[in-house]
Amino acid sequence: MEQIQDTSRPPLEYVKGIPLIKYFAEVVGPLQSLQPRPDDLLIITYPKSGTTWVSEVLDMIYQGGDLEKCQRAPMFIRVPFLEFKGPGCPSGLEVLKDTPAPRLLKTHLPLALIPQALLDQKVKVIYVARNAKDVAVSYYHFYRMVQLNPDPGTWDSFLEKFMAGEVSYGSWYQHVREWWELRHTHPILYLFYEDMKEDPKREIRKILEFLGRSLPEETVDHIVRHTSFKEMKNNRMANHSTVPTEIMDHSISPFMRKGVTGDWKTMFTVAQNERFDADYAEKMAGCSLEFRSEL
Ligand code: A3P
Repeated sequence: MEQIQDTSRPPLEYVKGIPLIKYFAEVVGPLQSLQPRPDDLLIITYPKSGTTWVSEVLDMIYQGGDLEKCQRAPMFIRVPFLEFKGPGCPSGLEVLKDTPAPRLLKTHLPLALIPQALLDQKVKVIYVARNAKDVAVSYYHFYRMVQLNPDPGTWDSFLEKFMAGEVSYGSWYQHVREWWELRHTHPILYLFYEDMKEDPKREIRKILEFLGRSLPEETVDHIVRHTSFKEMKNNRMANHSTVPTEIMDHSISPFMRKGVTGDWKTMFTVAQNERFDADYAEKMAGCSLEFRSEL
């Protein structure tokens, strides 16, 4: 495993105009030689949109609902995070070498940085999107606890950076839009965090249909129960508590934080909300995507 010496919140590095965590930026080049398998499944999200949740759901589906099998390793081993690199953990590419097929792969990369072979070979994608306000709040707390990110500064300044796309992985607006448009030409199941909150069983059924798999009714119910926020918060193999503190400091803010829709209301001031809405209307003009920011 490659040793990383300086872990002191380095500034983001731009790759093709996209700001990334410095260590992740270094992986984008080598990642382009990734060789997909026809049975790969790619989980794509903008950060803080329900990646870990859908990953657990998918691993449970792949393991036929067998809890013990899903306890075999932490999430970052079960579902390799393609562009990941950090101290004290194997990189995503290292994990990938030992991952048996059929593989579940995770990335937050925008379209411009996705390995071309994944697009050319039409690897199936499950995309999860979450409303921008809850993402911004969740991302702020995540920035505080993840030591590979730059310092988030105040909530107000972080929100400005989020709106300007000056956070790791760039613009939320562009990310959700480009993958939404791509669904016309690429096999993408586009899911929403809020729909999963509202009716997880319905969304798991959509996933099964997309994968061309079926499971007994009781297994689906079992997956719904096991992947609830409460269960996952206490599951060491899903809650990222095994990630070294140099990367994630759960004492600052736990990874499994609140898991609700509408938490933004506890952070946004009236003025921030008005400014955000006006900016949102401009950035999302002409897009048919509709988000719910409360349930
Ligand atoms: P909050 O910070 O709002 O609580 P990601 O995995 O993409 O980084 O997303 C993390 C967000 O999803 C966090 O949001 C986390 O609490 C939430 N989350 C994780 N598992 C969840 C679950 N089973 N149900 C609902 N939300 C979940």
